[in-house]
Amino acid sequence: MKVLTIVGARPQFIKAAVVSRTIAEYNLNACEPIQEQIIHTGQHYDQNMSDIFFDEMQIPRPHYQLAVGSGSHALQTGQMLIKLEEAMMLENPDMVLIYGDTNSTLAGALAAAKLHIPVAHVEAGLRSFNHNMPEEINRILADRVSSLLLCPTVEAVKNLASEGIPCPRLKAKVVNTGDVMNDAAIFYAKLSNSSWLEQNKLLPHQYILATIHRAESTDNPENLKNLMAALDMISRKHYPIVWPMHPRTRNLISSNPELSKLLATSAFKAIEPIGYLDMVCAEKHARLIVTDSGGVQKEAFFHKVLCVTMRTETEWVELVEAGWNMIAGLEPEKIVAAVEQMLMIDPQKLPWPDLYGLGNAGQNIVKELIKWSREQAR
Ligand code: UD1
Ligand code: UDP
Repeated sequence: MKVLTIVGARPQFIKAAVVSRTIAEYNLNACEPIQEQIIHTGQHYDQNMSDIFFDEMQIPRPHYQLAVGSGSHALQTGQMLIKLEEAMMLENPDMVLIYGDTNSTLAGALAAAKLHIPVAHVEAGLRSFNHNMPEEINRILADRVSSLLLCPTVEAVKNLASEGIPCPRLKAKVVNTGDVMNDAAIFYAKLSNSSWLEQNKLLPHQYILATIHRAESTDNPENLKNLMAALDMISRKHYPIVWPMHPRTRNLISSNPELSKLLATSAFKAIEPIGYLDMVCAEKHARLIVTDSGGVQKEAFFHKVLCVTMRTETEWVELVEAGWNMIAGLEPEKIVAAVEQMLMIDPQKLPWPDLYGLGNAGQNIVKELIKWSREQAR
């Protein structure tokens, strides 16, 4: 079986690291090995947004680097489509494997489906029900053309069912495999870089970790100003905040004099994006995590750290129901109030349910790929 894996953005490298490693392990004793080729669209390209993950997580080097880079949605997705189609026609894979909900996901799904190449979607079925998010459009469309929908949660399976997937007339299969990010958190926690705290002059459980990069948080300067004001207040009143800043956010702040001034005078500490092994250390030892990231919300839970989400909704609703995550919106006062409420809770005393599988999502996904390939051969 030949599989083409499409990645392009930071969280996809982390998810693909798990599945690629599992494929390599399976191949050690397989009569019919899986031949995997990785295509990197080039959506993320800075060393600390791309290469660092391939190096630290030992992800095989991509067979193709499409170097599409940044641009508007249409420009970026369009260029990916053109280049992916060319590579897919040359490689003629049995299946295309896509991850998550970025423009690279959508381009991979569309290019493959139009060439009649079956698509397997890792992280299928997530919904925020907010159609203003580019990610929501990407996921709905990717799921619609996928043959194998590999869901991370029970909720994701339910979301697909409510959209009529699987549909008896289309041969799509839906499976709850568990979440590959849980596998990653377990596997890489052993390798995490514990000197990161010392390097950043931080004490365990005496700081708050923040990340912000979503379009709805950053594209409107007023929203970004509000989030920065909230982080400033929290770091003055409660714990120091360390904020590995996504280049999107850094660029938007740099181009706005008012936000640049706010950054220069704020109490939080903005640093460059960090690698996954440092990130695991930063998350594990945080007193609290404040974020708009999808992946970081779950990682807080994996490392038993409480989280406040600076968004108006989340795809990971089970975290909110279990009390590990609080949706605070984008207003500074509400974010500060949510942080204060979460700081009152002792995470050691909070039940820690099995929401994302047993850390074997990578194996479940590889099993499904093999099963699917055998069913096609019949
Ligand atoms: C993308 C995904 C988002 C995901 C995030 C993960 C889409 C529509 N969005 O958002 O779902 O949560 O990745 O991090 O696919 N930039 C650099 N260097 C880089 C990469 C980006 O400077 O290596 C800057 C550029 O100014 C670029 C901006 O960041 O225009 C945004 O990058 P882009 O990939 O378009 O979207 P993200 O915000 O990263
Ligand atoms: N991450 C990282 N370094 C950072 C910030 C995030 O390694 O400086 C990791 C984080 O641990 C998680 C993933 O990147 O695994 C989440 O990516 P991001 O927040 O960019 O995207 P999202 O999950 O929201 O799509």
